[in-house]
Amino acid sequence: MQKGKLIVFEGTDGSGKRTQQALLTDVLKRRQTPFATMDFPRYKESLFGQLAGRMLKGEFGGIDQLPSHLAVLPFAADRWLLKQDLLGWLDAGKIVVSNRYTASSAVYYGAKLPQDRRRDFIRWVYTMEQDVIGLPKEDLVIYFHLPTDLAQSLINKRAAAGVQPKDIYEKNEQLLVTVETLYRELIAERPNWRVIECAKDNQIRTREDIHKEVLDLLATEGVR
Ligand code: TMP
Repeated sequence: MQKGKLIVFEGTDGSGKRTQQALLTDVLKRRQTPFATMDFPRYKESLFGQLAGRMLKGEFGGIDQLPSHLAVLPFAADRWLLKQDLLGWLDAGKIVVSNRYTASSAVYYGAKLPQDRRRDFIRWVYTMEQDVIGLPKEDLVIYFHLPTDLAQSLINKRAAAGVQPKDIYEKNEQLLVTVETLYRELIAERPNWRVIECAKDNQIRTREDIHKEVLDLLATEGVR
C-alpha cells in the first residue's frame, strides 16, 4: 500500500489555518479519501496539551521567564502521545492534516531568544522531535501568511468579543513579527514548504477563495 502523507498547516495566529483545515476535511470526506486530522496543542485531550495551554495563559510566568528549551517540551510530549496513531495512519495510506506541528515550537520559542541563538534552537527542536522522539517528517507544509497588522487586528477583535482571550504570544506584537521572520527563513530553506497569501490589496481573502488555492496546491503536489 502507498504510504500516506503528512500535510501541516502553519502560520501566525489569526491566519485561518483551522478554518482551512475544516474546509479541506469536508472535501476529503466527500471524496472518500482516507484521512485523519490533528490539532496541536491538544488543549483538552492530552495531559501535555493541557500543560501547554496553562503555560500559554501565563500560569508559569511571563514569556521571558520560560526557558525556550524547556517550554517546548510539553508541546513535543503532546505530539509524542500521538506518535503510534500517526505512524499507523500514514502506514494505512491516510492523508493526515495537522494544524501546527514541530515548526510552531521552533519559531515561537526561537523568537524569544537572542538572534544569534535562534538557528541552533530551531535545529535542536527538529532534532528533538523528529530524530530523538521519532515523529514523522512533514511531506508538505502550507504556510498561511497574513500580514502582521491584519493578523493583529483579527486577534484584537476576537479578544474584545470574548471569543478567544490572547495567549502570551498574542500580547506581544514585536515577538509575532520575529515569529513571522523565522517562518520566512524556514520557507526559504526547506523545499517542502509552500506559501498561501491570505490577503490581497490589504484585504483578507474569503475563506472559499483561499480554500480553492489549497485544493489547487494539493493537486499540484499530487495529494488527492
Ligand atoms: P493556537 O493559537 O494555534 O492554538 O496556538 C497556540 C500557541 O502555541 C501559538 O502561539 C503557537 C504555540 N505553539 C508552540 O509554541 N508550539 C507548538 O508545538 C504548538 C502546536 C503551538
